[in-house]
Amino acid sequence: MILVTGGAGFIGSNFVQNWLTSTKEKLINLDKLTYAGNKINLDICLNDPNHIFIEGDIGDSEKVFKLLEQNKPRAVINFAAESHVDRSIELPGIFFETNVMGTLNLLESCKKYWLSLEGKEKENFRFLHISTDEVYGSLDKFEEGFDEDDPFRPNSPYSASKASSDLLVRSYFKTFNFPVLTSNCSNNFGPHQYPEKLIPLTIFNLIQKKEIPIYGKGDQVRDWLFVTDHCEAIKLILEKGTAGQVYNVGGNNERENLEVVKEICRKLDSVLPRDDLSPYEELIKFVDDRPGHDLRYAINSKKIKTELGWEPVESFNSGLDKTIQWYLNNPLWLKEIKSTDYSEWINKQYS
Ligand code: NAD
Ligand code: TYD
Repeated sequence: MILVTGGAGFIGSNFVQNWLTSTKEKLINLDKLTYAGNKINLDICLNDPNHIFIEGDIGDSEKVFKLLEQNKPRAVINFAAESHVDRSIELPGIFFETNVMGTLNLLESCKKYWLSLEGKEKENFRFLHISTDEVYGSLDKFEEGFDEDDPFRPNSPYSASKASSDLLVRSYFKTFNFPVLTSNCSNNFGPHQYPEKLIPLTIFNLIQKKEIPIYGKGDQVRDWLFVTDHCEAIKLILEKGTAGQVYNVGGNNERENLEVVKEICRKLDSVLPRDDLSPYEELIKFVDDRPGHDLRYAINSKKIKTELGWEPVESFNSGLDKTIQWYLNNPLWLKEIKSTDYSEWINKQYS
């Protein structure tokens, strides 16, 4: 049995689905169900006998320790976090509550549980912390991609909170020999992503024939990793990674934001043409830039490739086709998301 946290969010729910279809091992899913977590993301696995969903906070040490003691998982994977940069600019406090204090409490509960184990169970236990390339800061257009030993230079409250959590995780290995692993990945995309992030926001707005806000000139670069490729990397890191090590995970898909949005427009022109057949690109609107906007993220995935044999299989094009199809095929999911505090955030952010 393993325990995952944040398994009702975007990457977590994709991971839960992937896990349940690729192994018979039980999985406990602990999630606080914040605005970003929704049981609708888990609809096809809620009745799976190998999936146990528990509503709860990673910061609730007592509850987490009890869960661990009762279920005796062999590993914990920590996806739970506040994850949206723009929200961290508006309301940084909750990012530090969850990403820093929550991770600290989770580490404490897990260490206490690990110390109670013996023999092979203790030796084989792993704590895998899911983090981001944003901890390394921003690159110029022609710099090499981030290495695992690059210094941390976070520029947003979100990335500062994730960098802090990564450092806490590292300290538990150095100080207590607690067997941690950390992965730092690039921007994920795929089904079930909350439509506040660039790709799902663009698709959702275009489906509704609404404008797409591009921050600044749209010349910032992100590396895009299809979510199932990320899930495969996580499973490999868990099984084959060396305790105490960090693994960077990238998609080999660097694109400027404007290019990404235009590509989505072109794809929708053919699969969902507008009534008057005018191009969706007409809906692009340049808006004020994000404060402290990182220019470029890129990952050097050499370590995970050479040491663990991982490579992404999805191209940006095929991943984008799958993502667009999923949003077009799931109007009820979008309706459900829209019925939460989604519109409040969007109206406030883009009015
Ligand atoms: P998300 O915002 O979609 O989901 C986060 C999930 O965590 C939600 O289900 C939420 O309910 C849950 N959660 C929040 N606070 C919690 C708490 N205190 N206790 C328990 N559960 C809580 O995020 P995501 O995009 O799926 O990201 C997952 C992880 O991957 C995060 O740690 C994020 O920093 C990291 N990451 C994401 C990306 C990306 O592109 N999405 C890229 C790199 C790293
Ligand atoms: P986002 O999906 O928020 O991820 P991150 O900030 O973690 O990389 O944003 C991806 C890029 O798209 C980033 O450079 C900001 C930009 N962006 C826009 O131009 N408009 C938008 O409405 C959003 C949400 C993002």
